Amino acid sequence: MKKIALAILFAGVSLMAADGKALTTKCVACHGANFEKAALGKSGIVKGQKAAAIEASLKAYKAGTQNKAGMGNLMKGQVATMSDADIKTVAAYVAAIK
Ligand code: HEC
Repeated sequence: MKKIALAILFAGVSLMAADGKALTTKCVACHGANFEKAALGKSGIVKGQKAAAIEASLKAYKAGTQNKAGMGNLMKGQVATMSDADIKTVAAYVAAIK
């Protein structure tokens, strides 16, 4: 039973991974096409960060608990409508950008 659940989970994740690019189209204006820029000259550089760190950041923005440069509310708006699964997909996609 556990194996089946895991298989479904992985199938779901790999299907959703295709949406990473679509989910990040709105991010690139501030963070750069490859997330290589400090957004609005304020954020840390997201490129090169590990998926787990990006996921934690995005979840914290959604929860309203991260505000590194005084612009946490702006990022909260960016991720407000994303599900936890969307956030995971985005984090994996961005972490894989070379
Ligand atoms: C309007 C400009 C803008 C857009 C669009 C935007 N961001 Fe941001 N982002 C910022 C700013 C400014 C910060 C710094 C927020 C703070 O004060 O903590 C930030 C911070 C971040 C951080 C934390 C970086 C660090 O300091 O380690 C991540 C991760 C991130 N954004 C990802 C995203 C993703 C993914 C999207 C698209 C869904 C997105 N951003 C869309 C401006 C933007």
